[in-house]
This record gives sequence, C-alpha cells and structure tokens, in this order.
Amino acid sequence: MGKTIIISNRLPVQLQISNGTINAIPSVGGLATGMKSVHSGGESLWIGWSGLTDEDTPEELEDDIDKALKEHGCAKVKLNSDEIDGFYYGFSNRTIWPLFHYFLKYSEFELNYWDTYKKVNQKFADAIIENSDEDDTIWIHDYQLMLVPQMVREKRPDTTIGFFLHIPFPSFEIFRTLPWRDEILEGLLGSDLIGFHTYDYERHFLSSVRRLIGLDVSFNEIYLDNRVIKVDSFPMGIDYKKFRDAAISHESKSQDERSDLQVRLDNHKASAPDTKLILSIDRLDYSKGIAKRINAFEYFLQKYPEYKEKVRLIILAVPSRSNVPQYQLLKREVDELVGRINGELSTINWTPIWYFYRSLPFESLIDLYTSSDIAWLTPLRDGMNLVAKEYIATRTDKSGVLILSEMAGSAYEMNEALLINPNNFEQQADTLKRAFNMPLEEQVSRNTFLQKRLERYNVEVWANEFMNALKENRDLGQAFI
Ligand code: UDP
Ligand code: G6P
Repeated sequence: MGKTIIISNRLPVQLQISNGTINAIPSVGGLATGMKSVHSGGESLWIGWSGLTDEDTPEELEDDIDKALKEHGCAKVKLNSDEIDGFYYGFSNRTIWPLFHYFLKYSEFELNYWDTYKKVNQKFADAIIENSDEDDTIWIHDYQLMLVPQMVREKRPDTTIGFFLHIPFPSFEIFRTLPWRDEILEGLLGSDLIGFHTYDYERHFLSSVRRLIGLDVSFNEIYLDNRVIKVDSFPMGIDYKKFRDAAISHESKSQDERSDLQVRLDNHKASAPDTKLILSIDRLDYSKGIAKRINAFEYFLQKYPEYKEKVRLIILAVPSRSNVPQYQLLKREVDELVGRINGELSTINWTPIWYFYRSLPFESLIDLYTSSDIAWLTPLRDGMNLVAKEYIATRTDKSGVLILSEMAGSAYEMNEALLINPNNFEQQADTLKRAFNMPLEEQVSRNTFLQKRLERYNVEVWANEFMNALKENRDLGQAFI
C-alpha cells in the first residue's frame, strides 16, 4: 500500500510574504488543527491552497514557497484572486456554508460562483493526480472540495478515495433547494467512503442520495455501477495529550515565565477572588451564535442582577472570511453590542465583557482555557466544535463547567456538559446561574466522564477508524467486482 494524500482547501499553515520573506503561520479552524496532529504523526503529503494568490506571489519566490511548504509536508495548488473570489469567498462561503448551516436566507445561488467552484475543484483533482501514485490512498476534506472525489475517480478508477465532511450535512428539505444538488452528490459519490461527524448528518445525506438520484441504498451502503460506497459517522476527536500536557506544563510555570495574558488573568483573580470567568472562543462566524450569546449575557445580568461584578465574559472572536458581507455585518454587530453593554454596565472595578478580535497562539489559548471557570459555547449550528473538547482536556484538576449548544456535533458525545438551546435565553440565564453555583464534586464527576471519553476517542483514533473503514471497503469493493 502506498502513502496517504490529504487534500483540503486550507493547509495546516498559511504563507505570508513580507519584504521578500516567507512566513508560515498556523491555520485556524477545526479541520486544520485536528488534521495537523494526524499529518505530523505519519507519512503523508498534504495538498492545498497556500493562502497566497498568484498575484501576491513574485515568480522568483515560487521555489522558496515550495520549499517552505515541503518543510511542513505540504504541496500547493496555485489559485489566482478571481478563483479565490468565486470558489472560496463565493460558492464555498456564500452558497454552501450558509446553506449547510441552515442559513437559507444568506445562501446565494450564483452561476459564476458555481462555474469557478467546478474549475478550482478540477485544479485540486489535477494536483492529486500529479502528486500521487495509483496505489496511494486519497483523503479529501470538506465542503470546498465536494466534486474532487468523482474528478479523481474518472482519471484513476481503481484508486482508494475517502471523503470527510467537517460541517453539517443538512436535511433533504434544505439540501434540495441547491440548484446544483445532483452534481454535488455525484461528486461525493466518487468516493469509496464518505464520513460525517454525526449519525444525523449521515442520515440526511443518505436520504438526499435516495430521493434525488434514486440510487440503491441499503443501510449505510450505496450501490453505484460496480462499486459499493460506504457512508458512516466518525465524530472527530482532539489531540488530547497535547492539550493535557500543555495544561500541565502551564501549571508548573514560575511567576517569571507567565505570559502577559496570564498575568492579567491572575491579577483579575487575585483582585476579585469570588468573581468567575466565562470563556467563549470561536471564529467570528454567524453560525457560532456570538451576537445571541452577548444578548443572552445581558439578559442573564438583568434577570439575576446579583451576578453583576461577579462574572466576566471573555470573548475571543477570531477574524474569518472578512471579504464576505455577512461576516462584515456580524463584526459590526458584535462591536456595537460589546460597546453598548460595557458602556451601560461597567463600573470602576468591573467591565462585564473582555473582547478580543484576533487569533491567539496555542499557549494563549491554554492560558484562557485553564483560567476560565465556565466555557460557554452557543453555536446555532456547528459540524463538531472542537473548542468544547479542548476546554475539557485542559482541566487538569477536573474543575470547570461546560455549557454547550445542543446544535453542535460535539453535544452528541458530551452529554455531561450543560446542554442548552442557544435561542432560549431563559434557559441560558438559568444555566449560567447553575454553572456559577455548581459544587466542585459535581464538576469533577461530570468532567471525569468527559475526559475519559475524549482521551479514548482522540484524533488519532478518529483518523485510524476512518482509514481502516476505507481499507475494509476497498477490499469489500474488490470482492464485489
Ligand atoms: N483556534 C486557534 N486559534 C485561535 C482560536 C482558536 O487555532 O486564536 C483553534 C481552536 O483551538 C480549535 C479551532 O481553532 O482547534 C476551532 O475549531 P472548532 O471546531 O471549534 O470550530 P471551526 O472554526 O472549525 O468552525
Ligand atoms: C471550518 C471548516 C474548515 C475551514 C475552517 C476555517 O472548520 O470546516 O474547512 O478551514 O472552518 O475557515 P477558513 O475559511 O478560514 O478555512
């Protein structure tokens, strides 16, 4: 058996050029952070977009770019700015992302976007063919590349191809509104195995395949020509050890070794020992329910005014897709909300919300996770939500309360968290109060279960289960022929 080729739009690093120097910065988002651990642990090549457009790239730097990517086990697909506009900002993030997250009214059906999506998916398929051999295993990731499996299959009928979707697959009633729904399904069906985070997403996909293309579906197998396509759910885990070890070494740091952020967090705790920190971390994305969360926080302080000056909400909103109008509107909305609430409620000693609009390095995330008494994550829809898992993994003494939206894929595996409906402010205000007052023994008991599960079903196990299922299905497929 050959090597594994990983393909996604986003590579684990993003390249930037400043003053003729190439810098590689870690990518943000669950796909990149999760797959990075899988990639670094084995022999694989990762193909994707470097983050640079052709227009940003002086020709004389092409070789240096290839070298920089090679150091990370990566190879690039070159894209120009028109392609990025139509494929990435356009079809991927103005059509598919909103539709698959049930934001029907944000979804734009533009023929130009679709044409560019097809063209760029073909470029990715060509890059795979160019960089792989017949006996390599191809693992394609996420909604930006849903046509790639079939495009590769056409040129390499016998290659083993797996596809994993990192976002929800919507119900048939939503998916059917997409003008290019059949083409998307046919693209995905080029795979031997299609994986989803949850059983619900899997079921929705199978129902669309049955009802839209009328294929033979038996349990989780689809019969197409002389192939069997397997569909299954594989909830993605985290690199549990990495987060746990980072939290342990964080605790052993001396006063001098502490970061500025940690010093600030420590000072806050020392000056107000009975105050609790509530943490939320997300990309600034409308699917994450950030604006609603801030409104719910205000409602909580109105309903239970005795918590004023006793809680502080830390919002880390990571800039994301800022060329897309909906993201720009959301940025304005969140800025205004935070400004208004802080303006109205702050006292000499207390600012209710600390708001950071930036991405933070791994060590700072650990500072935040380990210093916060409560993590409050309220996506309106989320394929998985790894932040919830990372928070629990860093709680070395098993203290801490996770409040998690039941609309996140991770809620299916995290029943011991306090699960909420992000649209229900009454429930969230009461849940915040409950979290604030939860006895330590109860926190420990809940987090013991959660940590055990996260440790057992970590990202390596997730990747192995997917790859084993892919291999099994290939063997089955050969027997079937
Ligand atoms: N993250 C990061 N830098 C930051 C904030 C978050 O790298 O400044 C990471 C975080 O640790 C997590 C990922 O981004 O691994 C977010 O994944 P999640 O599944 O929660 O949401 P997604 O962004 O994929 O929708
Ligand atoms: C989600 C998607 C990923 C994407 C990430 C960050 O996790 O599933 O495919 O890479 O968000 O978004 P971006 O648009 O910056 O790649």
